[in-house]
Amino acid sequence: MDTCVVSVSMNLAVIGLQFGDEGKGKIVDFLAERFDIIARFSGGSNAGHTVIHDGVPVKFHLLPSGVIRGKVGILGNGMAIDPGKVLDEINMIKSMGIHPKLYISSKAHVVTSLHRALDSRDDELVGIGTTKQGIGPTYTSKYRRIGIRVADLYNPQTLEKKLQLFIELNSLNIDKNELNEELKRLSHYGTLIKDSVVDTEVLINNMMDSGKSALFEGSQGTFLDVDFGTYPFVTSSSTTVGGVVTGLGVPPSKIHRVLGIAKAYTTRVGAGPFPTELSGKEGDELRARGREYGATTGRPRRVGYLDMVLLRYASLINGVTEIALTKLDILQGMDEIQVGTAYDCNATRYLYPPANIDGCKVNYDLYAGWASIDDKNLNDYVKNIERETKARVSILSYGPEPESTVEL
Ligand code: GDP
Ligand code: IMO
Ligand code: MG
Repeated sequence: MDTCVVSVSMNLAVIGLQFGDEGKGKIVDFLAERFDIIARFSGGSNAGHTVIHDGVPVKFHLLPSGVIRGKVGILGNGMAIDPGKVLDEINMIKSMGIHPKLYISSKAHVVTSLHRALDSRDDELVGIGTTKQGIGPTYTSKYRRIGIRVADLYNPQTLEKKLQLFIELNSLNIDKNELNEELKRLSHYGTLIKDSVVDTEVLINNMMDSGKSALFEGSQGTFLDVDFGTYPFVTSSSTTVGGVVTGLGVPPSKIHRVLGIAKAYTTRVGAGPFPTELSGKEGDELRARGREYGATTGRPRRVGYLDMVLLRYASLINGVTEIALTKLDILQGMDEIQVGTAYDCNATRYLYPPANIDGCKVNYDLYAGWASIDDKNLNDYVKNIERETKARVSILSYGPEPESTVEL
């Protein structure tokens, strides 16, 4: 019998396993050369992905990190896109002598300055501590079915009607002049990005069918996911692996591997439960060592121990096959390191986080610290993560630059 050998490129989803800022940008950049396409599927300029390029830190908010290495960058339909910020980032990359190959989904939703203003207004009351990038109001509009899509930038009547609806439904105090200014601005941006706007779900599937490989670059992290995160202290999109399917139109059968990114400890920006959080001097020291300040807002990040309850769950729901463990250098030299293993919530023990984790008490295991990347104690730390998550730790990161990375 004839056997048909089909050469299939492996596509990889890269997903944050904690509260964001795990080092996704660094790892995507490290892996980018192996892929033809780097595609974002969720979020918007709330993300901040740092890449050290030729020794200089470059922060990506909307563009997929791989564009800096000349890869095709796709901004998927699941994103909330501020067109002015896309243009700023394109200009930043161009000023580095790189001309990004970019495609923007015609079906992605547009963040306007009105969405941004509403985000600030609402968060005063709600207290999530959002990035004020207009993300919540943009996704709310999407599901309310009044959202502005990228394709609407080319239809002035639709654009005006949708903005007016947004103003009315949110009781915004915007006069006719301001509305006209915003319409002019959006149409102008539309013109500037027009050459990049396509039906990206068709493009990416056709490219993959013709043998090109894709890396799906996650933003935020599993516990900021609107379904699986610490609701309501989450972002407004699907940051977990399911977001690849709905946010790019990529069928599950085309996601071959899932690489989870986990920091060797835990950080969180903004409000919400954080069971292994370290307060006081210990927390301040870890924050200073790890330079834990937000890439988007500059806010100090809250810091704490590694939380295996969260990692176990993130690995489970994302189908994580491999893990990249980052910021190992920051813990290096500590005598001992605690790792959260289980929660006690209302007298019940949990190995996976229940719907509400506020007030849960954490049980810890103690690990011996490591003196170098080859130390046996680090190996014990890593083996424990593998046992608990049932995923292989395939990358160790011990510095922000691509060179400070080992593959196992
Ligand atoms: P992302 O949002 O997941 O891409 O992560 P961010 O870029 O917001 O935050 C991670 C920060 O840690 C960035 O400043 C990175 O340059 C830095 N970083 C990434 N990996 C490492 C590492 O292994 N060691 C150290 N010291 N810094 C790292
Ligand atoms: P990357 O991709 C860390 C947090 C905000 C806030 C909550 C909701 O860099 O890992 P939003 O503006 O999305 O409505 O804010 O989510 N948040 C992030 N925290 N990293 C991010 O992205 C984040 N994106 C949003 O701080 O708590
Ligand atoms: Mg970040």
